[in-house]
Amino acid sequence: MNSPLKIAIAGLGTVGGGVVKALTSRHAALAAQAGRGIEIVAVSARDTKKKRDFEVGNWVADPMALASGDADVVVELIGGEEGVARKLVEAALENGKHVVTANKALLAKHGKRLAELAEKNNLQLKFEAAVAGGIPVVSILREALIAHGVDAVKGILNGTCNYILTEMEVSGRGFAEVLKDAQAKGYAEADPTLDIGGGDTAHKLALLSSLAFGTAPDLANMKVEGIEQITAADIGFASEFGFRIKLLGVARQTSSGIDQRVHLAMVRARTPLANVDGAANGVVVDAGEAGSFFFSGRGAGEAPTASAVVSDIVEIARGSFGPVFGRPAASLKTLVPADSGAALSAYYLRFEVLDVPGVLAEIAGRLSEANVSIESMIQRGRAPGESVAIVMITHESPQYAVERALKAIAASDKVRARPCMIPMEAA
Ligand SMILES: NC(=O)c1ccc[n+]([C@@H]2O[C@H](COP(=O)([O-])OP(=O)(O)OC[C@H]3O[C@@H](n4cnc5c(N)ncnc54)[C@H](OP(=O)(O)O)[C@@H]3O)[C@@H](O)[C@H]2O)c1
Repeated sequence: MNSPLKIAIAGLGTVGGGVVKALTSRHAALAAQAGRGIEIVAVSARDTKKKRDFEVGNWVADPMALASGDADVVVELIGGEEGVARKLVEAALENGKHVVTANKALLAKHGKRLAELAEKNNLQLKFEAAVAGGIPVVSILREALIAHGVDAVKGILNGTCNYILTEMEVSGRGFAEVLKDAQAKGYAEADPTLDIGGGDTAHKLALLSSLAFGTAPDLANMKVEGIEQITAADIGFASEFGFRIKLLGVARQTSSGIDQRVHLAMVRARTPLANVDGAANGVVVDAGEAGSFFFSGRGAGEAPTASAVVSDIVEIARGSFGPVFGRPAASLKTLVPADSGAALSAYYLRFEVLDVPGVLAEIAGRLSEANVSIESMIQRGRAPGESVAIVMITHESPQYAVERALKAIAASDKVRARPCMIPMEAA
């Protein structure tokens, strides 16, 4: 057998701990699969006194020292797009060490530059765990589904959001209450902003888009929306129309460029993405003539994420090398954004209106003026002089036409709140 691969791990939290446990408990099996042993030669984290549920030696106080130690691979599991994580990854690549990371924030922001640095020094920079946890979607886009190109990649990429939306649907409770419950159960962070605001999905989508379309990861040209505005009423109406509401990351090649967006979408019930429940993740890849493929599984947590990190380490141990984003980093193109306003979609619209004669005619008139036609409508109950909901599904229309109509409708004195507009996604 070849000499063992020496690895240094920075960060011993949820993911780092899982990696240590997997490498320790499956040491012999992984060595057999890699063709050589894998040895942890150094570890580092912030608090040396913290109680951890695994044994590990060779502590190094300063994680930066791992970049100049005798490891072949530095495994960065600290997190954050700047700070120590970024410095460590850069220093490791400059010092001739391969890097494995789960850090989507870092790669979404600095991916092209770091990939160029790795490739210039003939090193690997692997990040399977950065997107969709245990689902091997990075390898799928980088190595497997390449023969016919990719038309679109879309998915449920944030387990916290999907858990909240699923719970709201099952229990009929509102967003704030379900979020609080999710925090108590450990499904949402104390500061949930990055998850519920769509930022975490955006980081992952930037990486998927880059792998799919050969562009540098680009967060600037991405429309990002979170889930805070969703109401139990919208979830209920969606279900009446035969849909479920999901937070999707969607990257699509169009004739005018690449459309990247993170948004709430109506997904037809019984399609694969609609059936991704709770904290799970799901990804659909439309791979040209090869067809459409769907992958689902656990997108976060100790074991699924460690599974992806360990697969990267074993690939490096095997000497299985390729460019970081599936093509030379220097050739990654600048993303040309699509004219997203022109994109055609059907929409779910909800209006909170005063129940007075003529209100429905006014809404229908504004939609008609913008050439938006209505496919179906629900108006439930009567409350003369009070607020009621009118809900519609439109036929396919350009986004800007629907937005124009909604702006005019919102200006009416019969409309009590900002209209809600959710695109329908053919999953
Ligand atoms: N958790 C998941 O399910 C998941 C899934 C996919 C990707 N990821 C990514 O994986 C990475 C790690 O996430 P995690 O959930 O494992 O985080 P975590 O549980 O918060 O662990 C972070 C680790 O980094 C250490 N650390 C923090 N700041 C440090 C510093 N300045 N110097 C040295 N060590 C420092 C912490 O040390 P102490 O233990 O001493 O505090 C801890 O061991 C992130 O990039 C995250 O986005 C996580």
